[in-house]
Amino acid sequence: MIEKSKESAAKVTGVATRAGLRVAALLALTAIVLATPGVARAQDQRLSDEWQPPQVCGYCHDTLYEQFRGTMHSQAAVDPLYLYEVALADEQTGGLVGPFCLKCHTPIGDMLGETSPPGGASDGSALSDIAKEGVTCDFCHTVAGPSDDWPGNSSFESDPGLTKRGPYSDSVSPGHDTAFSEFHTSSDFCGSCHDVNHPLNGLALEATYTEWKESGWADLGVQCQDCHMTPGAGPSTPGSGPVAIFGPERDVVYDMDFTGANAVFGKRDAAEERLKGAAALELTVEGVPEGGVKAGDAVKALVRVKNVGAGHYLPTGLTDTRRMWLEVKAIGSSGDPVELGKVEYHTVFADESGNHDHVPVWFAASIYSDHRVPPMGALDEVIEFAWPEGVSGEAKVVAELKYMSFTQELADKAKLDIEVPVILMAQTEQFIDVPASQLGAAIALVVAFVVVVGIMVVFLRRKPGALARSGRAQQTGAAKATGPEAAGEGSDEGPA
Ligand code: HEC
Ligand code: HEC
Ligand code: HEC
Ligand code: HEC
Ligand code: HEC
Repeated sequence: MIEKSKESAAKVTGVATRAGLRVAALLALTAIVLATPGVARAQDQRLSDEWQPPQVCGYCHDTLYEQFRGTMHSQAAVDPLYLYEVALADEQTGGLVGPFCLKCHTPIGDMLGETSPPGGASDGSALSDIAKEGVTCDFCHTVAGPSDDWPGNSSFESDPGLTKRGPYSDSVSPGHDTAFSEFHTSSDFCGSCHDVNHPLNGLALEATYTEWKESGWADLGVQCQDCHMTPGAGPSTPGSGPVAIFGPERDVVYDMDFTGANAVFGKRDAAEERLKGAAALELTVEGVPEGGVKAGDAVKALVRVKNVGAGHYLPTGLTDTRRMWLEVKAIGSSGDPVELGKVEYHTVFADESGNHDHVPVWFAASIYSDHRVPPMGALDEVIEFAWPEGVSGEAKVVAELKYMSFTQELADKAKLDIEVPVILMAQTEQFIDVPASQLGAAIALVVAFVVVVGIMVVFLRRKPGALARSGRAQQTGAAKATGPEAAGEGSDEGPA
């Protein structure tokens, strides 16, 4: 264990003589860092010397490491839903599919030949420690370019070793060699994994990269990085500052946080912010007659669902599992909201025999239906309904767009022991004129009349002869004596 850390420190020391005093200081730090038991242990746990665990990169790239921790990339090989599905896929296909899943969820595990044995790896325990780290810093930064079968299905060329590839052409590091890589600055890099095609029949199961490529965002030159590796929900400019301890100031620094939409296992607040920045709603209610609507009237809610912030379809990725839906309801000043209509946005797969009821992706052979919102585009939904009974007063029609990473039913089936959050992405409303009905108005009039008469009777009984008397002082005194109902009357005529 100690041997290894000495070796790394020695390697690093060789570089120092070339790079001057400032770097020498850094090296001292590196040597200390690499000699600490934690790092030595981390290195010792690797099955291979080729890939470093993220913590090691984090000793110098501390901010980037903090951003990376907790991302879905860092959990890709241990994500509980993923592990449940791999086990199921292996079970249902006799172990045929599991090895395919590893290619993107733990590319290092795949390259080390750690294929999941059927039934044996459902908890991920068959993986080495470095493979459990998922899509890591070192994996991404030792990708050398696309492979021949690019894009999709883990089509990258990997060249693990001391050369870390990135966006700078003048980068000097004491910890490793560096090389400029244009591939890393473009969506094409992400396209190696963010298009998933069925390994046997080629059906597009996930097409995030292709969706982006064919969108206006690609025409504008906005890359995945510009939205998923920058602060905020939509496209924004990257940050600036040093990217490593003692590193130089940089004008362009991308974040390693890759926030998406997973509020279950990912960073909840960031995912929620991203989802809220993705969509907008416009609502027009048609068919409300002049003078207002009454129960049973035929009314139409026209809802435009706009994809304003996502660089691909909404939703994207695992679109048979993700849940996004539009809910339109009527709400009165009292009583429960009444649902008027619901539209779901997702993909439904069919298997080889045409069955489209809950077909797992590994049996998908064609797309049965696909209703999702295109990038920079919108879908117009028409919801026709009869104005519901009992919705009156301050009445309104409300449209809401909601998202769940997956259904509660699936979470329960996978025994995840969690409550899947429902995220409100967008909301809009329109107030509707609902006059009180004529019968209602008549009843209200009668009630008011009875109340007024009742009050007068009580007043006259308690103050016999009150009407006959006159004089301000007396009336004011009477009002004081007879309590609230009378006080109202008294004040009408009271002192000006
Ligand atoms: C001993 C400290 C140290 C360690 C450990 C370290 N780095 Fe670096 N790294 C640096 C410094 C310093 C730079 C230069 C920063 C600059 O140029 O602004 C750098 C630059 C980089 C770059 C930019 C390369 C380019 O040309 O664009 C990448 C990518 C990178 N490191 C990845 C990693 C990865 C991955 C790990 C873990 C396997 C790692 N680093 C571990 C110090 C370190
Ligand atoms: C999914 C792949 C991926 C992972 C995981 C990843 N990076 Fe990066 N990293 C990139 C890409 C792509 C860029 C270039 C972004 C650009 O310039 O467009 C980048 C940029 C960098 C840079 C250059 C400075 C900057 O921030 O723009 C450094 C240094 C770096 N990464 C280090 C790390 C470290 C350390 C980790 C882990 C803690 C890490 N990366 C995790 C893909 C990744
Ligand atoms: C080695 C394959 C691979 C590469 C390369 C890769 N990803 Fe991923 N990415 C994954 C996998 C696998 C997941 C899903 C992990 C999970 O949910 O268990 C994922 C998830 C994501 C998510 C979803 C997070 C969420 O919260 O829903 C985003 C966003 C993302 N990646 C962006 C990127 C971007 C941007 C790039 C390019 C800079 C990139 N990825 C490169 C494999 C990859
Ligand atoms: C213009 C900004 C923008 C660009 C460009 C962009 N995305 Fe996204 N992405 C978003 C937003 C906003 C969301 C959240 C809404 C959603 O789920 O679609 C998201 C969500 C995601 C998710 C999670 C989807 C889910 O529901 O699980 C993945 C994965 C992802 N993006 C990957 C990518 C990749 C890969 C690229 C490049 C090919 C890319 N994105 C380009 C804005 C963008
Ligand atoms: C070509 C790369 C690739 C392969 C191969 C792959 N995946 Fe994924 N997987 C992804 C990406 C990218 C995402 C993120 C998409 C999103 O967020 O919607 C993902 C997300 C997931 C998720 C969602 C996890 C969550 O927390 O919501 C599950 C489950 C999953 N994959 C299971 C599998 C299974 C099972 C296999 C094998 C049959 C497999 N994947 C093969 C790239 C891949």
